[in-house]
Amino acid sequence: MRLGKKVALITGGAQGLGAAIARRFTEEGAAVFIADMQAEVGEKTVSEINAGGGTAYFVTLDVTSEQSWIAAVWKVEKIVGHLDILVNNAGINIRESIEEMNEENFDNMLAVNVKGPFLGIKHFIPVLRKAGGGSIINMSSVCGLVGHRYTTEAYTVTKGAVTLLTKTIAVRYAKDNIRCNSIHPSTVDTPLMQELFKNPERRQERLGEVPLGRLATAEDIANAALFLASDEAAFINGVALPVDGGTTAD
Ligand SMILES: NC(=O)c1ccc[n+]([C@@H]2O[C@H](COP(=O)([O-])OP(=O)(O)OC[C@H]3O[C@@H](n4cnc5c(N)ncnc54)[C@H](O)[C@@H]3O)[C@@H](O)[C@H]2O)c1
Repeated sequence: MRLGKKVALITGGAQGLGAAIARRFTEEGAAVFIADMQAEVGEKTVSEINAGGGTAYFVTLDVTSEQSWIAAVWKVEKIVGHLDILVNNAGINIRESIEEMNEENFDNMLAVNVKGPFLGIKHFIPVLRKAGGGSIINMSSVCGLVGHRYTTEAYTVTKGAVTLLTKTIAVRYAKDNIRCNSIHPSTVDTPLMQELFKNPERRQERLGEVPLGRLATAEDIANAALFLASDEAAFINGVALPVDGGTTAD
């Protein structure tokens, strides 16, 4: 088991990539906390994992709220007493260009996509340190590496911030044996994309930019997260890992 005895918390774990990561981690022996605002969907994912023989718990979390993070730490410590892996996966995308977007929407994007991981790292670093170290994985995007022609400015700003948040944590907390890496998916078929893909032209645009000629699956991303979380990646720290079929190499 690649994550035997390890405990992970995955934000935005109720559905999409977060749920796929939770499933993959539990298949490899981890106990996972699914931390999300959507309690009903999250509880369902937890039930499915537990019914399949895995170990999962649900914790209500709004990543934009410091109080909510404090409560999540309390719950993890109460139920299992330690944490080894934090996956900052929750994210939103309000698809409006810089000229369309109002201040409130920009602030919301920053709050979920940047303040969320910032607060999560702030509150879980002491927990990881107490466990003797651990792995933090931040979900960025190809848009955190390049200016992507189909993506709006606000999303790009938030994912770029995640890329460098990752590197500064990697450098500063290596002394505590805490590794921090980011994952940069190209377009993945998840609920986040369903609205966009109602228009077949949008789907074709996204397909056309991937040298491997297909969209990513949630499992592609979950497998990358599994590797970074595991001890196989013990010397991998501060990496921005594209999982994009070659998109950003083009
Ligand atoms: N799907 C893609 O094509 C793609 C590509 C690159 C990067 N990403 C990134 O991957 C991550 C997951 O994306 P997804 O496609 O699975 O999205 P999704 O919309 O399917 O799931 C996101 C989850 O985050 C939760 N969430 C949103 N706001 C929250 C908050 N304030 N507090 C707690 N939970 C909150 C939602 O309830 C949901 O369960 C995001 O960070 C996204 O930006 C996605």
